[in-house]
Amino acid sequence: MIDRLTLHNYKAFQHAELQLGPLTLLTGLNSSGKSSVLQALALLRQSYESGYLTVSAMLPEARRAGLRTSVVNQGFLLNGELVGLGTGEDVLHEDFTEDEPRIALAVDEGPYHYGWTADYEPEQNLLPLFDVDLPDTSEGGRERPTGPEAVTPAFFTGPFQYLHADRISPAEFYPRDHRAAVGRGFLGVRGEHAVNFLRHHREDPVPAGPLRHPKAASDLLIDQTAAWMGDLCPGVDIQADAIKGADAVSLSYGFPGTLGPTKRRRPGNVGFGLTYVLPIVVACLSARPGTLILLENPEAHLHPQGQTQMATLAASAAAQGTQVIMETHSDHVINGVRLAVKQGRITPGQAVFHYFRGDGTSVDFVSPQVDADGMLDQWPSGFFDELENTLDQLIG
Ligand SMILES: Nc1ncnc2c1ncn2[C@@H]1O[C@H](COP(=O)(O)OP(=O)(O)O)[C@@H](O)[C@H]1O
Ligand SMILES: [Mg+2]
Repeated sequence: MIDRLTLHNYKAFQHAELQLGPLTLLTGLNSSGKSSVLQALALLRQSYESGYLTVSAMLPEARRAGLRTSVVNQGFLLNGELVGLGTGEDVLHEDFTEDEPRIALAVDEGPYHYGWTADYEPEQNLLPLFDVDLPDTSEGGRERPTGPEAVTPAFFTGPFQYLHADRISPAEFYPRDHRAAVGRGFLGVRGEHAVNFLRHHREDPVPAGPLRHPKAASDLLIDQTAAWMGDLCPGVDIQADAIKGADAVSLSYGFPGTLGPTKRRRPGNVGFGLTYVLPIVVACLSARPGTLILLENPEAHLHPQGQTQMATLAASAAAQGTQVIMETHSDHVINGVRLAVKQGRITPGQAVFHYFRGDGTSVDFVSPQVDADGMLDQWPSGFFDELENTLDQLIG
């Protein structure tokens, strides 16, 4: 699990160290730096997956040089499958203070610290790596990693999902990309592979624990997905089918109906919210210990009770060993996580809240802590106080 993310001269962050937990909620005003945090992790993963952060070949030299070395042909790949951040000029923090600014990102996984520093090249979209900082044993008695974790954090190679705020909408068909949905188990940043994933993995069991919905027809992914979606729309069932003669798959819904089960309905005829949330449900239910899920606005297009239910789902995934980092504007999601703590679904220490405030070039943040009763120790001004503020005006 990633315990801490450090950002230096990166977008709105001159320097920030952000604690992360099994379930982290990034909240705050619009344009305050929340998505940038998710993008930093996606940028690292994208650079690694594309072969631009593979320092393993240089490990012997890196070790001889005290595990700090310049590396060639390596760097931050700013534009790729997961994120498109532009060029160096877009990414370098505007109010940098050094004469020769560099952009640095670092993650801590347990005792292991991994850092990457890139040179600033205003016009480039591959920022050359200047330095790497890998786990070492110099600090009193820590065990030196010997496997792949010697050079790469676990989140580079473990199961990973990143779902943008802008996801799939109801459509007649979705892509049938075997490598994405089956080979890599990746749902796509818009969840575009979720239907094909569901079709292929429909009979995978959801492991026992809070993720397993008690009202589902079985433990299988397809029934579990339907059960969690049933909390948004009672009784719904889901089918994902191959379309004969086309490299595409289709999605359909059924409902209990007044005179028995309805005929299958296409996504365009059942409203927006169900399809929009499907990739999130599939991501959480198919996650396993060690999976990292980055989520933007799981509440989008859901009614308030459904938003609370998304928090329950995310907390359940976190309780079963998945790390979920989500950006949200929903007080129902926040309260749903507080409730999950109170109900013992997750411990207070597993839920981390950050509230960001930005002014266009810089960000500061505060981190309210939740106790075992689900109570937060502080409510900074602007942090989900809108309901109270409005009610005060209505009553006053
Ligand atoms: N290179 C940069 N230097 C300073 N601030 C930046 C830079 N790039 C983006 N920003 C600021 O970051 C904020 C956008 O952050 P973002 O994470 O997209 O917001 P949100 O909180 O809505 O997800 C904006 O205030 C923008 O002005
Ligand atoms: Mg955002």
